[in-house]
Amino acid sequence: MPKLMIIVGSVRPGRIGLSIAKWVRDSALARGDFEVDFVDLVELGLPFMDEPNHPRLRSYTKQHTLEWSARVDAADAILLVTPEYNHSFSPALKNALDYLSAEWWRKPVAFVSYGGISGGTRGVVALEPVVIGLGMVRVGSEVEIPFAARLVVDGVFSPEEKEVAILGKLFDETVVLAGVLGPLQG
Ligand SMILES: Cc1cc2nc3c(=O)[nH]c(=O)nc-3n(C[C@H](O)[C@H](O)[C@H](O)COP(=O)(O)O)c2cc1C
Repeated sequence: MPKLMIIVGSVRPGRIGLSIAKWVRDSALARGDFEVDFVDLVELGLPFMDEPNHPRLRSYTKQHTLEWSARVDAADAILLVTPEYNHSFSPALKNALDYLSAEWWRKPVAFVSYGGISGGTRGVVALEPVVIGLGMVRVGSEVEIPFAARLVVDGVFSPEEKEVAILGKLFDETVVLAGVLGPLQG
């Protein structure tokens, strides 16, 4: 079974991203064809990039980087749950991506985005050159949730039919890509 790493892109107190990411995690587990590694960037607690060497060299000097590197290495596919902040994505997510290099190489990357009227689309557009630069391969199906806050009540995200259907397609595609790309990963 491919191991899917789900990264919660928001670290803001009061964030709705955690509720949305839990729905994504539970949906992935319910299918029975993924192992899941759920990464809450608050719990991960990476400081702002504090490595002296380019990540491409893999000569890491900090324990937190070595642990993050091993964790991403163990993943077969990545799913980013990303908010839209000022027409881009969150700085915490950029920081977590920037820490590493080869660990991301040729991993399928899928997006679940949310925000205001744009459903986080502009955040994903800003993420695309970053993940392409890291050598990831984008999953075509993308869940976009406009005005997502209206669907979160008492910390629980209740999706609409459209989001459930697209998430299913996204997972189907991710399983296939994880299998095909596995031999090409670093
Ligand atoms: C700093 C900041 C900037 C934002 N910029 C945008 C934006 O450009 N477009 C948009 O649709 N929503 C924007 N929003 C609304 C967020 O998408 C919305 O608050 C969402 O809940 C943020 O995700 P989070 O609660 O998981 O942190 C912004 C919110 C914040 C806090």
